[in-house]
Amino acid sequence: MQVISNPTQDEIVIAANALKKGHLVSFPTETVYGLGADATNENAVKQIYEVKKRPTNHPLIVHISSLRQFPIWAASIPDYVNELAKNFWPGPITFILKRSHLAKDFITGNQELVGVRIPKHPVALQLLGEFEKLGGYGVVAPSANMFGSVSPTCAPDVLDDIGERLKKEDFILDGGDCEIGIESTILLCTEENIKILRYGNITRSQIENLVNIEILDQNADSNVRVSGNLVKHYSPHAKIVLDQKPTHGDGLIALFQIPTPEGVIRLAAPKDIKEFGQTLYRAMRLGDKKKLSRIMIISPQINEISQPVIDRIKKAAAE
Ligand code: TXA
Ligand code: MG
Repeated sequence: MQVISNPTQDEIVIAANALKKGHLVSFPTETVYGLGADATNENAVKQIYEVKKRPTNHPLIVHISSLRQFPIWAASIPDYVNELAKNFWPGPITFILKRSHLAKDFITGNQELVGVRIPKHPVALQLLGEFEKLGGYGVVAPSANMFGSVSPTCAPDVLDDIGERLKKEDFILDGGDCEIGIESTILLCTEENIKILRYGNITRSQIENLVNIEILDQNADSNVRVSGNLVKHYSPHAKIVLDQKPTHGDGLIALFQIPTPEGVIRLAAPKDIKEFGQTLYRAMRLGDKKKLSRIMIISPQINEISQPVIDRIKKAAAE
């Protein structure tokens, strides 16, 4: 495996060729780092599951570079989804729709649905664009971490997590730290309504302001498999404890106003919710590197903006 920092256009073309030949490429997005493979290549996709040790019935999101590719993957796209896509793409929102013939069982976890997203990071967009120029249709990319652990938000975290499991011909493209730091909002879209399957940076109000369609919440009955919906997920090795007083030897993640008691190891002191999201996973990983047995997280106040962050914190703390 080769790590390429701040890849040039030529280097991105090399990585796109590797994808086309069936190799894996980890790349930055605005949310978290993805581990990409040609979405039409069953063998390549199989390698993603092997590297991550991810159960094969967990579907993958198809990443594309432009709206032109969208109808290739979805059998039908409701008007309101086109409206949302036009507004929020490239960006941190994924639509789950009826699949086209191209979206095979090996990417959808045998479901009749496909997830699609256009990410915002320039390296991701260039990589996907070059891949499409080579005749590719889309790149499936789960977060580039071992199944069940927190998503990587920088290339060194990808390397730490899965570096040794990648093959010689695979790549990690280092495009710096992810701007958002938590995964995209996922919407299950039917003709009748939207179900928010995973909270992310794009909020319910942003969606409501744009389209006139019923929006149901995450916990509304759903038998769609979203791995982020397992109660215990996004979790480091250290035990995550919420909203208690940290004691000697504990790690602490809390907004900057909250002081660090003596003997407590401060892992992050974000100045606002945006920074909380950016640093949360990194801080949890830091706690693991320091071999802490407990990490205390003081949750920010709940509101629409902090909701996705609180959602990840709760999942990390779940027993
Ligand atoms: O921000 C993100 O979405 C990142 C970056 C790399 O794009 N990707 C990501 O992928 O978080 P992953 O695989 O770690 O989580 C994607 C979630 C999974 O929980 C999966 O179950 C759900 O999306 N998903 C994907 N395709 C689906 C489908 N066809 N039906 C239902 N859920 C789907
Ligand atoms: Mg993931």
